[in-house]
Amino acid sequence: MKEKNNEIVIVQISDIHVGESEFIPSLLTRCVDEINELKPDIVMITGDLTGMGYRREYETVKNYLSPIKCKNIIIQPGNHDSRNVGYMHFEDIFGQRYASFQIPGLVIVAADSSEPDLDNGQIGREYYKWINSEFSKANENDLKIFAMHHHLIPVPGTGRERNIVHDAGDVLEVLVDCKVDLVLCGHKHVPYIWRVEDMYIITAGTVSSLRLRGKIEPNYNIIYVRENEIDIYRRFPFDRIEKILGLERKTNKSKLNDKFIKEPTKQK
Ligand SMILES: [Fe+2]
Ligand SMILES: [Fe+2]
Repeated sequence: MKEKNNEIVIVQISDIHVGESEFIPSLLTRCVDEINELKPDIVMITGDLTGMGYRREYETVKNYLSPIKCKNIIIQPGNHDSRNVGYMHFEDIFGQRYASFQIPGLVIVAADSSEPDLDNGQIGREYYKWINSEFSKANENDLKIFAMHHHLIPVPGTGRERNIVHDAGDVLEVLVDCKVDLVLCGHKHVPYIWRVEDMYIITAGTVSSLRLRGKIEPNYNIIYVRENEIDIYRRFPFDRIEKILGLERKTNKSKLNDKFIKEPTKQK
């Protein structure tokens, strides 16, 4: 944690999709420059780093990401990364597909929701106890973040509900029981926020692909965690930055009204 104001800065990027014709290298390199300027404490990458899970795509995306100057980078695979048994290359190049990370003030648990050669995903009941035991290591006022690639509840404008993990109901219950504060997802390139109980499910868009729905633009999230508040911004590489959520800690009560929270993701 940084000394200044006990603030923790987290960047979430998602759905890079190296190897596809819609991948725009300058968006990713710009995002890496913006990250290095921001100097976050943690960078999270919530899946779909590649198009087809090929080794050469993994090597290319690794080259793009290696200039990031952040010692805490947490990465999960997405459904595209597990195509063609690509999760083997993921493990070779990026390491574990499941991660638990703790620093003073914060616990992050990240799980692989992808399945080999399927676009559908699941967390799987065999991991519920692990999720629970990792979050049980948190101190009383620590922020709890869970990360996965697929959606946890349906997101408007993303088609069929197969985008959510098969065991979404069970995972929701596990995470609510663990008193998780934020869930970070990616997958269909539509940024959105849902609140369930006291938990916010933050879906990031794609940072560097033009596989876009409607008028949505490539973007990523910046999360500022402070003692009494959490502020979340959506940043558009080369362009603007928008505040999308402000929360009071302890209550997780929005400082903004609900209408505003959902507004930025609506189609114009
Ligand atoms: Fe994707
Ligand atoms: Fe995906």
